[in-house]
Amino acid sequence: MTLSSAPEPGLFIAFEGGDGAGKSTQAALLTQAISDAGRTVLRTREPGGTPVGEKLRSLVLEHGQGDIDAKTEALIFAAARAAHACQVIAPAIARGEIVISDRYADSSIAYQGAGRDLGTGAIAKLSDWATDGLWPDLTVLLDVTPEQGRDRRTAGNAAEDRLESEPDEFHSTIRTAFLDLAVEFPHRYLVLPASAPVHELAASIAERVTTLLSRIRNTEEPTTPETAAGRHRADAGTA
Ligand code: TYD
Repeated sequence: MTLSSAPEPGLFIAFEGGDGAGKSTQAALLTQAISDAGRTVLRTREPGGTPVGEKLRSLVLEHGQGDIDAKTEALIFAAARAAHACQVIAPAIARGEIVISDRYADSSIAYQGAGRDLGTGAIAKLSDWATDGLWPDLTVLLDVTPEQGRDRRTAGNAAEDRLESEPDEFHSTIRTAFLDLAVEFPHRYLVLPASAPVHELAASIAERVTTLLSRIRNTEEPTTPETAAGRHRADAGTA
């Protein structure tokens, strides 16, 4: 990864994919590569990333919280995202940092919009409202089949959370929804097969990030809160 010492633009990268796709591994490798190249990286996750977001994470993912209907579930994820976007992600981008989030709004579109059948358009609008239109510059989709995802999740005997323990058909719907988003927003999507070797995936992701950084650097004035916000409020999320 080659980086210059010119004033750096902030960048927002989200990792998406079904459960067991290996997002955390790739997010960690990219974080390391970018910090090794001298940039400040903020690694975060959804749901979570703020004190209120972490509480909402436990509420929505742990078993035994009583029945959580689909709309309540969608609103909990959206509430966690509102805090995350406004308190953590937008300020870091404005400081010229590279934000790497393990999941973001497209998870809500896939899981709640498609998986829970609340409508992908409605959930995209909800996230757009919750975040004041903050969408990633790059979404890395690690495409995993429901079977591969289940095998990887259960390999370490880790207990499955509320969403992970849904049947394969649910995970198959989510996979299709992510692939549909990649077709709808090709300029911000990089789709890679989760089954590829870890270091090949890491190299492809680093290459795309390097290209994106030089493109932004060559087309933008130095980042100010206004220019960063302007780029991230482009129509990257909702059709
Ligand atoms: P994840 O970060 O993958 O949890 P872990 O790595 O600890 O297994 O995501 C938690 C779960 O929440 C995952 O099943 C996807 C789901 N989820 C949604 O349903 N909607 C959302 O908006 C987000 C961000 C996650």
